[in-house]
Amino acid sequence: MTPIRTITTTAVVGAGYMGGGIAQVLALHDYKVALADVDGEAAERSRARLVEQATVFESGGLLPEGAADTIRKNLAAASSIEEAVGLADYIAEAVPEEPGIKAATLRRISAAAPAGAIIGTNTSAIPIGELAQSVAGPERFLGVHWMNPAPFIPGVELISGPDTDTAVLGLVEELIGGLGKTPVRVSDTPGFVANRLQFALYKEAVQMVEDGIATAEQIDAVVGNTFGFRLALFGPFAIGDMAGLDVYESAYRTLEKAYGARFAAPQALVATVQNGNLGLKSGHGFLDIGAADKAALLAYRDNAYARLSQLRTELGQAPGL
Ligand SMILES: NC(=O)c1ccc[n+]([C@@H]2O[C@H](COP(=O)([O-])OP(=O)(O)OC[C@H]3O[C@@H](n4cnc5c(N)ncnc54)[C@H](O)[C@@H]3O)[C@@H](O)[C@H]2O)c1
Repeated sequence: MTPIRTITTTAVVGAGYMGGGIAQVLALHDYKVALADVDGEAAERSRARLVEQATVFESGGLLPEGAADTIRKNLAAASSIEEAVGLADYIAEAVPEEPGIKAATLRRISAAAPAGAIIGTNTSAIPIGELAQSVAGPERFLGVHWMNPAPFIPGVELISGPDTDTAVLGLVEELIGGLGKTPVRVSDTPGFVANRLQFALYKEAVQMVEDGIATAEQIDAVVGNTFGFRLALFGPFAIGDMAGLDVYESAYRTLEKAYGARFAAPQALVATVQNGNLGLKSGHGFLDIGAADKAALLAYRDNAYARLSQLRTELGQAPGL
C-alpha cells in the first residue's frame, strides 16, 4: 500500500475537546475537514459549536479576521466514521483515551479510508506500536499528539510506530509545520516526552500536598511564578545549562539524602560535571551553546523574562485562581 503524497482533504474522528480544536486548525488553513463522532447528530453539534467558538475567537482577536468564515466554509459534519474518512487523505483520530474504543475506531477508520490515507492518533500515552495492531496498513499510521487547547498550543509530538513509513512521517511533519505548529519527533514510549515529564511533576506535587508540605494553591503559586515561568520560554536543558550543572548536581545530593535514590543525581549529569562541563559558564553542558552565542542568549533571556512579566501583568490574575 503506497501512502498518499499530498494532503488536501482531512477527517477528524472524535470531535470533542481535542478533535474539535484540531479540526479548527485544519479548517483555518483551508483543508476540508469532515467531522465524525458517535453519530451524525453529535458531529453536527460539534460543527456548530466549533464555528460559534471560532467567531468568539475572531472577535477577541485570537484568530485573524475572516477566520470564522474560513472555518465555517471548510468544516462539514458526517453521518458516520465511514462517511467522514471515505475521501480523506489525512485522518486525525481523537476518540477517548480508552484502548478498546481506540482499537475499534482505528479498525473502522482503516477499513473505510482510501488505501494510502494517513492516520494520526492523538493518544496521550498509549504506545503507537500497540494501537498500530488495529490499523490495516500500519505503515500509514503514526502518533500526532496535540496539546489542549489545540488552536493555541504551538507544539505537536510526532511518534512513529514500528512500521510507520518515513515518507509518511515527513509528510505529516510538513502538514503540521504548515499549520503554524512546531512538530517534534519523539520515540514511541508510553507518555512520549510531554506527558512523561508532565505527569512526573504532577505526581511529586500531589505527594507534597499529601505530605502536608504545601497546599495545592501554594504549589501552583510557586511553580507558576518561578521555574514554570521559565518553562514558558526554555526547556529543562537550556535552563540547566544557564543555571550551572554543578549547582544541579549538589542540589541532587541534598535531595537524595532526604528523599532517597529516586532523587540521586542522574549518571549522565554526574559524568558531565566530572568532565568539567558545567553548562554556559564553562562552554559546554547538555547543550552545545557556543561561546559566541553566550552574551546574546543571556540578553535574550533577560528581555524575554521581562516581557513575559509585563504580559502577565497585562493579562491579570486568571479568574477563579
Ligand atoms: N484533553 C486533553 O487535554 C488532551 C490533550 C492531548 C491529547 N488528548 C487525547 O485526545 C483524545 C481525545 O480526548 P478529548 O479530551 O478530546 O476527549 P473528549 O471526550 O472531549 O472527546 C472525545 C470525542 O470522541 C467521541 N467519541 C466517543 N466514542 C466514539 C466513537 N466510538 N466513535 C467516534 N467518536 C467517539 C465523543 O463523543 C467525544 O466527542 C484522547 O486520546 C486524549 O488522551 C487529550
